[in-house]
Amino acid sequence: MGAFVIFGATGDLTRRKLLPALVRLQEHKQLVDMKIICVGRRAFVTEQYKEFLKKSMPAVTYESIESLPLQYLSLDFSVPDSFKSLHQALEYADSPSIFYLATNYLLFPEILAGLRAHGLEKTSKIVFEKPFGSDSKSARKLDALIHSVFPEERVYRIDHYSAKETVLDLEVLKFTNPVFEAVLNKKHVARIEVCIDEELGVGERLGYYHGTGALKDMVQSHLLQVLSLVLMRKPKNAGSTALHDEKLRILKKLKVLDPSQHLLGQYDSYQQEAVQAGLPARNTETFARVALECMSAEWKGVPLILQTGKKLPQKRGQIRIYFKQIPSLLKGALANELVIDIYPKQDIYLLVNTRKQGMRDEATPIQFEFSREKAFGPNTPDEYATLLNEVFLGNQMFFPRGDEVLAAWKVIEQVEHMRDKILFMKYPDGVYPAG
Ligand SMILES: NC(=O)c1ccc[n+]([C@@H]2O[C@H](COP(=O)([O-])OP(=O)(O)OC[C@H]3O[C@@H](n4cnc5c(N)ncnc54)[C@H](OP(=O)(O)O)[C@@H]3O)[C@@H](O)[C@H]2O)c1
Repeated sequence: MGAFVIFGATGDLTRRKLLPALVRLQEHKQLVDMKIICVGRRAFVTEQYKEFLKKSMPAVTYESIESLPLQYLSLDFSVPDSFKSLHQALEYADSPSIFYLATNYLLFPEILAGLRAHGLEKTSKIVFEKPFGSDSKSARKLDALIHSVFPEERVYRIDHYSAKETVLDLEVLKFTNPVFEAVLNKKHVARIEVCIDEELGVGERLGYYHGTGALKDMVQSHLLQVLSLVLMRKPKNAGSTALHDEKLRILKKLKVLDPSQHLLGQYDSYQQEAVQAGLPARNTETFARVALECMSAEWKGVPLILQTGKKLPQKRGQIRIYFKQIPSLLKGALANELVIDIYPKQDIYLLVNTRKQGMRDEATPIQFEFSREKAFGPNTPDEYATLLNEVFLGNQMFFPRGDEVLAAWKVIEQVEHMRDKILFMKYPDGVYPAG
């Protein structure tokens, strides 16, 4: 029996995402013979941990979790000796373990040291939550440290957007339908926008977010990952390395446009939240709109807009590809658009022109639409369950490689360099900044 070990077992991510994902895998019989060891700093025994979960989770979520084979282990990462108890708990495991680091990246070195000191790294796999460092320097240092303990083939860096259903669709959409592959380039595309807008504020993640902001929290990871999948050419083969090589090629060619093209902002009630939490006033951006250009031969000259923010009027993850307008003899013809909804809807639609009813010389735009829910039912796979299953299977396809993460940090650093020249504005809660 192998073990799935969660570091950070009392944390928000474990309660909201990881444990429910494990339940899902158990329901689908994908958690065969797997012991789950929840590692936390608090001095709980397993029953107390379950009580803690019960109190801090919606009743319905807790009921489903009760069926998981959970064991709690109290361990302080900063005390190397405390990894002995984990060693003992894993001693009789006859298959390799999976270590999931659901903790701040600053704790990764201590955990790696503890695992190595007790010989626990041998054949196991390791999974890291984002953010992976705070800039290219820290990410490079972290990578070097990881590779001194685990080879890259056993390293998984989480970016759950890579497992969102319509993001997974991108490769199929582009590379099995010549009708799309042929037009996704600078000859036909006028502009591409990717957005991840949220209605909620920073909430309980304020402590982390205050020193991080939207650029590092969202643009560096989710938005750049999605953009690289939108822009990449067909990988040389179906393997994971070819896919990562192609994404890396795109990320390395991204150029940040001049400061007048970007916008940073902060929702009005943010400062009050920070003061109440005892944090110093700071211009942490809760909104970022960043304009890029990919200098590759197939995309040069096409503006690429990435946008994300909190306390915005709507919850929306979307990729929108605007095609160039062609001259038309008909009135009413508009440029085509390909829209890929990432969440909450998971629809893909194409805006095309058709003949207006009853008219011979007038066009009108209509939507060709594909709805995942209508086609396959409402039971959307959960992205954390999808990713955990890929870790079990040993497939690294949907996990950003270290060099991709590094290239994404370099894009953010280009923006950080010009931060002082970028317009920064406060915006009312629930309203898009007006810049
Ligand atoms: N929450 C989300 O929605 C979300 C989304 C995407 C990514 N992430 C990433 O996931 C990671 C975890 O996030 P989170 O929100 O779950 O954080 P969190 O709620 O602050 O949890 C952190 C966990 O680490 C444990 N911990 C801290 N120091 C420790 C030590 N010295 N020894 C043992 N345990 C220690 C904490 O234990 P105690 O309870 O004892 O403090 C807690 O279980 C972060 O990297 C975050 O950026 C989170």
